Amino acid sequence: MTYQRWTLRTANTSYTVRLSPDGPWAELDAWGPLGVEDGPSALDWSRRTHFITPADAAPAEYLPYGLRPFTGSELVVRGPGEDRGVWWEFDGAEESDGGLRLAFTDEVTGLRTVLCYETVPGTDVILRWTEFTATAELRLERLDSAAVNIPVTGAARLTYLAGQWSQEFQRTQVDLPRGTFTIGSLQSVPGHAYAPWLAVQDGEAAQSAYGVALEWPGNWHITAEAEPGGTVRVRAGRVPHEGAVHLAPGETLATPRLACAFSPDGLDGLSRVWHRYERRLSGDRLHRPRKVLYNSWEATGFDVEAAGQLELAKVAADIGAELFVVDDGWFTGRADDTGGLGDWYPDPEAFPQGFDRFVADVRALGLDFGLWVEPEAVSPGSRLHAEHPEWVYRVDGRPARLVRNQLLLDLGRTDVQDFVIGTLDRLLGAHDIGYLKWDMNRPPTERGRPGAGPADLVDLDAEHVAGYLRVLDHLRAAHPDVTVEGCAGGGGRIEHATLVRTDVVWPSDNTAPLDRLRVQHGFLHAHAPHVMSSWVTDAPGIFDPRPRSLAFRFVNAMCGVLGIGADLRAWTPEQRAEAARWIARYKEVRDVVHHGEARLLGTPDDPTCGVQYDAGDRTVVAALSTGRLDGAPLLPGRPARLRLRGLDPAARYRDTATGTSYGGAHLLHHGLPFAWSAEHDADLVVLRRL
Ligand code: DGJ
Repeated sequence: MTYQRWTLRTANTSYTVRLSPDGPWAELDAWGPLGVEDGPSALDWSRRTHFITPADAAPAEYLPYGLRPFTGSELVVRGPGEDRGVWWEFDGAEESDGGLRLAFTDEVTGLRTVLCYETVPGTDVILRWTEFTATAELRLERLDSAAVNIPVTGAARLTYLAGQWSQEFQRTQVDLPRGTFTIGSLQSVPGHAYAPWLAVQDGEAAQSAYGVALEWPGNWHITAEAEPGGTVRVRAGRVPHEGAVHLAPGETLATPRLACAFSPDGLDGLSRVWHRYERRLSGDRLHRPRKVLYNSWEATGFDVEAAGQLELAKVAADIGAELFVVDDGWFTGRADDTGGLGDWYPDPEAFPQGFDRFVADVRALGLDFGLWVEPEAVSPGSRLHAEHPEWVYRVDGRPARLVRNQLLLDLGRTDVQDFVIGTLDRLLGAHDIGYLKWDMNRPPTERGRPGAGPADLVDLDAEHVAGYLRVLDHLRAAHPDVTVEGCAGGGGRIEHATLVRTDVVWPSDNTAPLDRLRVQHGFLHAHAPHVMSSWVTDAPGIFDPRPRSLAFRFVNAMCGVLGIGADLRAWTPEQRAEAARWIARYKEVRDVVHHGEARLLGTPDDPTCGVQYDAGDRTVVAALSTGRLDGAPLLPGRPARLRLRGLDPAARYRDTATGTSYGGAHLLHHGLPFAWSAEHDADLVVLRRL
């Protein structure tokens, strides 16, 4: 049988879509390494669909409820006559260089749906999204971005990144023999509970891995279902908070983009596909060196005052930091977390000689200067709230709940966006600020905008997203030299729409060494090292008390963008000298860490794990001992070993610090040796290929 087929090709993969022989829909023919489409489709199935329809079992790319009645659809439409369902016909294909658009039209509802595909040059990522145009008013109760199909022979192995505040990005796995698996958020941000990211493999032992990541900083879901045709079908998209999104006649609505990735090299290879994609998202800004940051939040909390901050800045500069960031607590009314948000003016009591004098003093130490803001937040007692109570999300006649003692501005409103843009322009224009940390510490609870018309006609979630992105876009355009850090009480808002508009993100408030290791291990499955902000903080810290050396904390933080958040005033001269050595070492290797190919070596469940970075003739290995600290090796007399990957077995590699050289085959087969002891629980090895 011949089908109409289209193949999209990325650097190393092909993705072939065909028109189904069984009905008016597109379905997956093949997805995998280049050339995988050359043969009978591995997704073909028996077509015995007793009790269900062919559409229910097909590896369909996108199907509406109506055509696909039983097994889960991507689109649920309520038409003018209140009837639900769409039965469409194929309405043509448009192919372009690296792109494809497949159109389907339903005459009864007047809905035209276009499935859009775009390859991302230099990566193995295909972007998918869907566009809708209507001739009559329609309500879209479900409007997923796309569905992807992965053929499986048994239970699929799903890997996802789950957690909660201070425990984000925990790599978690589940097998799905039958049934439905869902992750998502209704918090108007991606949330701490799940990253909008999923990897699917054909069982635990599969060599290859497929992945999706949703570009949407609002409500979302990713759902994987074991399908009757022998596939796992993953549907992903935004979740209409008000129950439905209205589509007006003549209007075109585009869903968020779903990035789809494949690697023949399992989860580790898949992580490198995402890293490459995120390096591309950073564009030219990738090549701006990420400065070694000092942030005073953990040292001084809300007790920000010029003298104490300068004392910290002085030590930070002495040990080699390049940037000093004043976090929460610098503005009027912010003695603690009950006040001040919204009134973004430096507190004159904290800066008695003026804020600009303080910034100049920091800069005179040779440091760049950064500031924390939480632009969407407002304290109930602030002047801003007194002047504009209508700017806050609220439901008429209902009490507004406080979370972290604060309310949330309705950033979907243009006047609120203009206020935020005006505030940021004022701060960045008036003061010499090179770095901005954008935080958000509460989701919207009473989600309403009184006076805006029937609640179900307002798409508050998408409007908040649009406002957030508008402000970030403005920052990029109006203040291109300002580095932006994305943060939401830790890692509550990390996804590709944020990453393309920021320079670094803050994965978690938890910086305790072993906890952080686990957070970063999960994070690096989905995100690139050059966006991963990480601080060295004091031990034992406020979270996990398990002890680790200063070296461990540095090596761990050097796996991404190094920062320091400890109270340096209390550090001994020896600690400061050691910190200075680590920072100097980091500066020598950060280009490899940020621009090289990263490989996760083992997991935090192993007694030794690490990350390997390769660029040019250099290999950097961050090695961390998670095991016992009594100095006893796992096997008496034998050092721990960390097997490297991706090296040339026939080449030789020299440790640039010790001069020891190793054959590639040795490093691949036996690994680098580490004689861990009570004092020596982490190391950074730089190898040069000879
Ligand atoms: C939450 C952030 O994640 C922290 O790093 C810090 O900025 C606090 N907010 C300040 O309130």
